[in-house]
Amino acid sequence: MANPLDELLARRPRTEYSLRLEPARVAEFHERGFTCVERITSDAELAWLGAVYDHLFRERVQAVPGGYFDLARPYESEGEDRLPQLLMPEQALPALRETAFWRNARAVAATLLDVDASRLLGWSHMIRKPARIGAALPWHQDEAYWDPAYAYVALGAWMPLDPATSESGCLRFVPGSHRGPVRAHRHVADDPSVHALQTDDVDDAGAAVEVPLAPGGATFHHCRTLHGSGPNASARPRRAWAIEWQIPPARREAPASRPWVDEGRSAWESRRFR
Ligand code: NI
Repeated sequence: MANPLDELLARRPRTEYSLRLEPARVAEFHERGFTCVERITSDAELAWLGAVYDHLFRERVQAVPGGYFDLARPYESEGEDRLPQLLMPEQALPALRETAFWRNARAVAATLLDVDASRLLGWSHMIRKPARIGAALPWHQDEAYWDPAYAYVALGAWMPLDPATSESGCLRFVPGSHRGPVRAHRHVADDPSVHALQTDDVDDAGAAVEVPLAPGGATFHHCRTLHGSGPNASARPRRAWAIEWQIPPARREAPASRPWVDEGRSAWESRRFR
């Protein structure tokens, strides 16, 4: 019997989708720490990605060890997932790196970060907010998740496969927050076995801007931009695929202090898949 992933791979549309990034978008990224494009790939690719996405989540594919879990609850919780995440699906399905979304996101990231595209490393993750029960993702900065021994030049590209609205849990960003330091974070519910981080240092969150998007649009946010998303109160899932782009990070003279990273690492390493 043919592997369903191989069958999906054979059906991949060879999509070209050319994107012109308006200079105003670049300026917006520098000023506010985020921007968006209305469309980054074709309808055909979007339909194919939807089928791939649904397969990966239905089978809870672990493209890397432990790479499927609910972001909003302790690892290996029983019952229905509220915010399932799948890490590095491109490890199981390298064709994801051949998509127009991947190519265009890399090109946009290079422009926004003002680096040569050939220097950019990308890894991705898929986050699914199930209909009606999909959990919120609290305020955080992506760099807060990363190894504090390194300094980063990085951004996240995020593409919804379903309408991303206020009701379904589109992303929201705090303009200008990318200029500040990485804030103190903690694990949700103060439980390091819950993967998601949050910061309570959000006096500026009143200025947050929601960015609703149609399927196939994309947001780009700096690795220090404060952001999050609301619950999915809508009647359909809110599927999204994100690619993190960075140049090889430089080792800091001294590691930043991020005790929550160490706490989370211990919880991750004690998981049953080990
Ligand atoms: Ni994030």
